[in-house]
Amino acid sequence: MELIQDTSRPPLEYVKGVPLIKYFAEALGPLQSFQARPDDVLISTYPKSGTTWVSQILDMIYQGGHLEKCHRAPIFMRVPFLEFKAPGIPSGVGVEEDRAGASSHQTFPDLLLRAGDSERNTGPTAHQDTPAPGPAPPDSVGSEGQAILASTEELSAAQNPKREIQKILEFVGRSLPEETVDLMVQHTSFKEMKKNPMTNYSTVPREFMDHSISPFMRKGMAGDRKTTFTVAQNERFDVDYAEKMAGCSLSFRSEL
Ligand code: A3P
Repeated sequence: MELIQDTSRPPLEYVKGVPLIKYFAEALGPLQSFQARPDDVLISTYPKSGTTWVSQILDMIYQGGHLEKCHRAPIFMRVPFLEFKAPGIPSGVGVEEDRAGASSHQTFPDLLLRAGDSERNTGPTAHQDTPAPGPAPPDSVGSEGQAILASTEELSAAQNPKREIQKILEFVGRSLPEETVDLMVQHTSFKEMKKNPMTNYSTVPREFMDHSISPFMRKGMAGDRKTTFTVAQNERFDVDYAEKMAGCSLSFRSEL
């Protein structure tokens, strides 16, 4: 895969072997002192693995299933990325600022890699920026807070979203009437989220995300990399995947 050099996209920075967007790498320092609250929920995912989906489900749960309450802000403000930082973008995602006004069930998700050793298991460390190098996201994030492992479950979730919503409800110790869960299934479908400005990132200024090149929410299809990559890229991916996953007992399906 050729790297497209774009001056607005400085080269990735490696943090503990993980390639990160330069600005995200810079944001990691202050995060070392992040203290999770017992009711924080950290969503730990790989890129393109359903982060937005799980975020919307969680916020809907915390809003009692009321979609209109989820219209209060775009998803990246309601469920901020801990490590997000970019020049010129107001930090709707700055955790400390957000916390001042946060409800007791503010969700703090995403891309917190707590891989490996126990030292790294005590605080946010790195954002995974390429498909699955290294260990899988853990299902625990330290002594406080909770984590939801979203990524590897994407395929089964797509097949039975209601069951997955029920699992998330159980995980956060909530319950909602069945008809509310049914409504949530509808509102969090890919089709609905793709046209919802509060989930589809269309509120992000064009200079940061140009939807005419690609909408943030594209197809909602598992395994679409196969059609996106060239034959050579697919081959290279398969070799790399086999190498990195050697010895891993988990088996993943990439197609429904
Ligand atoms: P595409 O938009 O490329 O199809 P992330 O939020 O981690 O970036 O993951 C995005 C991917 O999650 C989407 O990729 C899609 O495959 C899947 N996805 C997102 N929202 C979804 C939804 N509501 N229902 C089903 N799949 C969804």
